Amino acid sequence: MSVRTRTALITGATAGIGEAAARKFVGAGWRVIAAGRRADRLEALADSLGRDSVHPLSLDIRDANQIAKGVASLPAQFRDIDLLINNAGLALPDAPSPAAELDQWKTMIDTNITGLVSLTHALLPGLIARRGAIINISSAAANYPYAAGHVYGGTKAFVRQFSLCLRSDLHGKGVRVTSIEPGLVETEFMLVRYLQDENAADAVYRHASALKPEDLADTLHWVAEQPPHVNINSLEIMPTSQSFAGFRIARGEDA
Ligand SMILES: NC(=O)c1ccc[n+]([C@@H]2O[C@H](COP(=O)([O-])OP(=O)(O)OC[C@H]3O[C@@H](n4cnc5c(N)ncnc54)[C@H](OP(=O)(O)O)[C@@H]3O)[C@@H](O)[C@H]2O)c1
Repeated sequence: MSVRTRTALITGATAGIGEAAARKFVGAGWRVIAAGRRADRLEALADSLGRDSVHPLSLDIRDANQIAKGVASLPAQFRDIDLLINNAGLALPDAPSPAAELDQWKTMIDTNITGLVSLTHALLPGLIARRGAIINISSAAANYPYAAGHVYGGTKAFVRQFSLCLRSDLHGKGVRVTSIEPGLVETEFMLVRYLQDENAADAVYRHASALKPEDLADTLHWVAEQPPHVNINSLEIMPTSQSFAGFRIARGEDA
């Protein structure tokens, strides 16, 4: 009996965790729809992994029309999506409030929340029909507040709680939902956060022994390959070098 090839849609597949995940899943025999804005990178990924296995889907996740058109344009062999990995996301400069710019706060909300929710909504009927799975990339920033975390931490807390609530909504339907909450991962994330300032980005990762995108790809694949009766609800993963800071006390009458 032939086994049907499963299909995963992975957002943010032009870099970092999403690209590593695309490589991992294709290597494990899945078909992957690789989504992101930088079409040249998606084309290069499809060329390197093979067009039978990778369908490049160039879209800006903030734009609901692009999502609708992109989903409608999928070729027949990529249409039956079994797994949605909502990975696209970003943080913007970590100036403390209120110095942080409102436009940057809105960009994080539009990408990390609205984009993720819109794509999930578009794919949910098919995922229910196939008893599929959704893995959302939240962050350790959802679980621990830190200075200048403001809207980024807020969006990632949304992603975690949305995942758990969705799981509850889908009770009895056999759909699995997981929230992954990584600590520091060495990707282009800090380059984006520091507006392409390579020195600032490098300084974060220097000698930090951060997680590699491949560590997350392995984790995502492990979650996806659990037997159908096993749901990983939420999973926090950090480099050994990263741990927790305590509370602070500002002293003085004005504190
Ligand atoms: N790196 C970390 O330390 C860390 C820790 C915790 C959680 N995370 C989360 O992990 C996820 C992946 O980040 P990463 O570390 O792999 O960073 P990355 O290397 O910067 O990759 C981010 C990906 O998101 C995509 N993206 C951003 N805005 C988009 C938009 N409007 N439309 C479509 N795609 C968009 C980017 O593609 P295009 O620019 O080509 O569109 C890129 O492929 C994010 O959700 C991030 O918040 C990262």
